[in-house]
Amino acid sequence: MIEIKKGVYWTGCIDWNLRIFHGYSTPFGTTYNAYLILDEKPVLIDTVKHYGFDEMFSRIQKVISPSEIRYIVSNHTEMDHSGSIDKLLDFCPNAEIVCSPNGREGLTRHFAKNSRKEWNFKVVNNSDTLNIGSRILQFFLMPMVHWPDSMATYCPQDKILFPNDAFGQHYASFGRFADEVGLEIILKEAEKYYANIVMPYGGQVLKALDALAALSTDLIAPSHGLIWRREQDIEKIVKLYRSWANYESQYRAVIIYDTMWHSTEKMATTLYRLFEKEKIPVKIFSLATTHISDIVAEIMLSKAVLIGSPMLNNKMLPTMAALLTYLKGLKPKNRLGFTFGSYGWAKAGFKEMEEALQEAGMNLLVPGQYFNYIPDASELESLSDTVASIKRAMQEGKE
Ligand code: FEO
Repeated sequence: MIEIKKGVYWTGCIDWNLRIFHGYSTPFGTTYNAYLILDEKPVLIDTVKHYGFDEMFSRIQKVISPSEIRYIVSNHTEMDHSGSIDKLLDFCPNAEIVCSPNGREGLTRHFAKNSRKEWNFKVVNNSDTLNIGSRILQFFLMPMVHWPDSMATYCPQDKILFPNDAFGQHYASFGRFADEVGLEIILKEAEKYYANIVMPYGGQVLKALDALAALSTDLIAPSHGLIWRREQDIEKIVKLYRSWANYESQYRAVIIYDTMWHSTEKMATTLYRLFEKEKIPVKIFSLATTHISDIVAEIMLSKAVLIGSPMLNNKMLPTMAALLTYLKGLKPKNRLGFTFGSYGWAKAGFKEMEEALQEAGMNLLVPGQYFNYIPDASELESLSDTVASIKRAMQEGKE
């Protein structure tokens, strides 16, 4: 355990070997953060994934006997945070589970109705408080950041915000604080986390940020990864969250493609060179080698998103279909979309690509470019007009 403030301990679990988190690539692993507050009525804020129970339990035992825990705050039902509650109740049978109204429903469906023991719920609503002795805990409902049940817990005496998934990152490390690990890499992981977990809920994130703006915070202690403690780091991550929640983008392009016989690849690399020539910052990714969870982080930052696939049996390649299905759920709004690719004898699948980008919230101002079999020199040259049109649309803010 680590004392993050006097009487407040990190008692979580470090998952060094996690490489996929429900479809999201996690090359650096993750942590499930639980926090123990020692007071007249000791409180545990969130637990850990089921297989991290022993690790969390031994950290708690270094501070107090788990039987003394009076409240278990469940900020979020998803099982990476609630997965150890039932087992923990074996050791603190009288503890009350503090959660939102949706949290009670979710926890009942996940665990309580199948449990052999009594789950004593204490349901809280927005701004409700809980006196635990020398401290008061205050709760802020944050529906859809990340599930309908999500809420944040705030301790005004310690000025600590426990926002659960919000402000988190999938990153396993020895250190517990963002500044111990290196701000650049943690901000990059926070960005990827937002793009893959929180992006569809920008409106709800803005409401939560407005509610939390009035709080004075020395620490933001999320449920994954590192804790934010330096004033400038807290300012930076909150500012970034506001920008991401507003679906702001940068003046840059990203090209994403897959290919069968290198024709679509030829188009992709030609487009890449043309963007460079126009001095527009551009990145290019092949779906054969780059994970879609890394790609959506790039899409979140880019004003122009170019998507290319050849036709296979009159459909886009399955790798592209997977990306577009993912994007339709994540809805990276206010982007300029463009589709391209090579075909043999049928091209109806391109329309599906266009429709998928529109369903994902993108604006298609420039007609897609589709070339038969192998693009010839004049066709590739014609892409310079396309890039000029995209540049104009980017400059005019037509995304
Ligand atoms: Fe980390 Fe939505 O759970």
